[in-house]
Amino acid sequence: MTEELDHETVAHGMAPEDSPELRALYRGFEENHLNPLWTQTGDLMPMHPRPQAVPHVWKWSVLLPLAEAAGALVPVGRGGERRAIGLANPGLGGRAYVSPTLWAAIQYLGPREMAPEHRHAQNAFRFVVEGEGVWTVVNGDPVRMSRGDLLLTPGWCFHGHHNDRDAPMAWIDGLDIPFSQQNDVGFFEFGADRVTDEATPNFSRGERLWAHPGLRPLSQLQQTVSSPLCAFRWEHTDAALSEQLLLEDEGHPATWGQGHAGIRYVNPTTGGDVLPTIRCEFHRLRPAAQSAERREVGSSVFQVFDGRGYVVLDGTTHALEKGDMFVVPSWIPYMLQAETGFDLFRFSDAPIIERLGFMRQMVDGDLR
Ligand SMILES: [Fe+2]
Repeated sequence: MTEELDHETVAHGMAPEDSPELRALYRGFEENHLNPLWTQTGDLMPMHPRPQAVPHVWKWSVLLPLAEAAGALVPVGRGGERRAIGLANPGLGGRAYVSPTLWAAIQYLGPREMAPEHRHAQNAFRFVVEGEGVWTVVNGDPVRMSRGDLLLTPGWCFHGHHNDRDAPMAWIDGLDIPFSQQNDVGFFEFGADRVTDEATPNFSRGERLWAHPGLRPLSQLQQTVSSPLCAFRWEHTDAALSEQLLLEDEGHPATWGQGHAGIRYVNPTTGGDVLPTIRCEFHRLRPAAQSAERREVGSSVFQVFDGRGYVVLDGTTHALEKGDMFVVPSWIPYMLQAETGFDLFRFSDAPIIERLGFMRQMVDGDLR
């Protein structure tokens, strides 16, 4: 007997053998906008998460040409605001939701183009898989965007982007738009038509203040819900991952699993996640290494940053290369397998799930 049958949903009672009283009862429910629990327990309280979102892979070799075509045909500016193309999970009815909580998009800015300033309650980040030349201006602070960098735009910070070069640039955006929309927490405000500071410094003011390992400015001792450091540079991520693998070579505990290095980006005021709704991580597998098989409550999106490998998603193996993205819906098992050295960026809704006490994980079959 399956779990579903253990916890069966009782069919609605409008059958020919129903008594007139029972039929009248169900009609009464319907006319008064009521819906009895006993007809739908299996949907409302499944034995384990049964996501409508499905596992899916988007190939960079498909995403990038479509973003380039949009660059040629669709202007960027006030109103549309951004040339961002959302990944629509095939299980979620065509909405640009990659999962019930997360939005993921490829954004494209042509040579010398500018995306106007605005702000919204939704939290956002950018991750750069290739290219350079765009600065995102966050609350007036110009932040360089380069390959391998994670750039934050916490909720309600004004932000716009400008391309200082003669070449286009594409990157990915991650936001909590579906969570925000389903819970009606969104606010939005237009800002300046041009970014408020068109300077192109190598390092933002936020980095000059905060990006010194283990050192906190005495002028900034309050905890903030989002990281005040809005740029996490590839140079540091790469070094942290390389050192974990070197320490493993030297026989010291350092990696997350054998041949599997990993880091979490953190808010330096709390040591917690960089955004209140989104967790960001980076994973590096040695050539031929394999991760544990995991299931987690909540959803994640991965993007391959470098190398080649595979993800086994709910029993199906998908080959992956640079730029490819995939979504892991709640409680869907996944495992990474490296062919070459394999670098992946990951973001998830884990801060929401953990804070509300819903997190469960299964690692290689063990519930944790
Ligand atoms: Fe925005």
